[in-house]
Amino acid sequence: MSRQPWAEPSAGQEFGKENKVKRTLHTNTFGISRRDFLTTAAGCASLGILTPQGPYAAKGSAWALEQALADDPQRPRYHFLPPAHWMNDPNGPIYWQGTYHLFYQYNPVAAVWGNMHWGHATSTDLIHWKHQPIALAPTPGGPDKDGCFSGSAFVHERTPHIIYTGVWPETQCLALSDDPHLRTWKKFKRNPVVSAPPSALRVTGFRDPSIWRERNDWLMSIGAGVRGEGGRVLLYTSRDLINWQYSHQLAEGPPFSVYEPKGGEKYDAVAAGDMWECPDFFRLGDGHVLLVSTQGAVAQMTGRYLDRKFECERWRWVDGDLYYAAKSFMGARNRRILWGWIREGRSEAAYSAAGWAGVMSLPRVLMPGDGSAPRIEPAEEITALRRQRHHWSDLEISSERVLPEVKGDGLEIELEFEPGSAEALVVKVRRSPDGNEETAIVCQRPSRALVLDTRRSSQNPEDFHRAQTMPESFYFVKGRMEKLSIFLDCSVVEIFANSRCCLTGRIYPSRADSLGVALCAKGGDVRVKSLDIFEMKPISRDRLTT
Ligand code: FRU
Repeated sequence: MSRQPWAEPSAGQEFGKENKVKRTLHTNTFGISRRDFLTTAAGCASLGILTPQGPYAAKGSAWALEQALADDPQRPRYHFLPPAHWMNDPNGPIYWQGTYHLFYQYNPVAAVWGNMHWGHATSTDLIHWKHQPIALAPTPGGPDKDGCFSGSAFVHERTPHIIYTGVWPETQCLALSDDPHLRTWKKFKRNPVVSAPPSALRVTGFRDPSIWRERNDWLMSIGAGVRGEGGRVLLYTSRDLINWQYSHQLAEGPPFSVYEPKGGEKYDAVAAGDMWECPDFFRLGDGHVLLVSTQGAVAQMTGRYLDRKFECERWRWVDGDLYYAAKSFMGARNRRILWGWIREGRSEAAYSAAGWAGVMSLPRVLMPGDGSAPRIEPAEEITALRRQRHHWSDLEISSERVLPEVKGDGLEIELEFEPGSAEALVVKVRRSPDGNEETAIVCQRPSRALVLDTRRSSQNPEDFHRAQTMPESFYFVKGRMEKLSIFLDCSVVEIFANSRCCLTGRIYPSRADSLGVALCAKGGDVRVKSLDIFEMKPISRDRLTT
């Protein structure tokens, strides 16, 4: 190893500095202002690295974009969002010296996927965030010249490190930070540390490393797969983080569901389930959990880990197909906290025109559950956002009952109910007074499924109209209360059922008066033992995260 193995941050990582003089609006103690962040596009352009794209590309239009985002009724108010433009996977979440660091796949110049950088934000409470300068940017001529793809953060010798995938081709690269706020990162000069997949395997992809330690060894899992056979997680080992040996497959699987390419569609390894992206492997209670993202959703496998091999005993989807690339970490009080990327449901043309795309899910806590299935709950920190409470108890619901006391697009709805004789209990949100627009959350008794029906969420025929189903969400056994928590945040609906599973959707209502809430029972009645609706406090004053 050379004596100076870590490169100083490249110009590309210092975009924030270009705009220091303009730091006027919304500046916070340690973060950077949204204005600074938005002018990143100008910074990139002046460095000749990237050209701003999209409707707000013109010089000086950062202000116009900021206004448009602040006024956009679809932009969530209490979920984490980047300051503008495109976001996908959560990357390298880490709790370091009392601060939560959240990195994410970020395109700093347009609201479409591309130019992958690592965006960065910090929080001390998991809820309120401060944007930080970009953590990782592609280095011209380097192994990540075409993008810094997903990866993980970990601590070695009291120094936070990142391992991530540089493209193209896909290789694994290291960076470290000796800055206490993790605002600057130095890439390892001899990157990549793993330059190719094992030659004997013809893999469909080779990305998204995740790292842990066992005795004196570092272990690294990498997402991969084999065409026509299914996904793979490859296991590497190292003593020094720099020299890595391929060991064996940590896990392998057939695709989770049958892949039927639509007419004329090209083979797509992820859609086919022949590529497992973003593997996340950890111990939970007495068992082990492996999460992989494939076929548009996150699969959760639980099973046994023996001789450094994972044997899946049970699997299920964690959420629907608008939730992806889930990544966990250990937070304060030894909690396993999971982040996930909530995609857009609208067209690329629509989100590109809006100037932003992608939302982070609420932080979810994973806990050992009954049998081998983990329990999943919203982090309790979210309760700090509860403002006004509306409470009902012992409601008998037999037909539709509108709740005129509550209106809103930023609500938490918590209910406990007994199935009764009804076929279904339906919670309606974002309902227009005439009922022509509404989003229905349906608890179906015969199938025990949770359905998020957004077919009537917008009267605009070009919007997103569909129903998503999460099987086995309810118990429906005598004497057992069913529990549902619904987080409504403008265009995001995030549902937790019985601490068992989640279902997340996107809605883009077209009417400003679609703010009502109603309960409805179908084919009989339901006893709602308790219903609490909280109006939620925004985490910023202008649909910004910081
Ligand atoms: C998952 C993913 C990862 C990759 C990243 C690129 O959404 O495709 O496999 O590292 O996004 O942005």
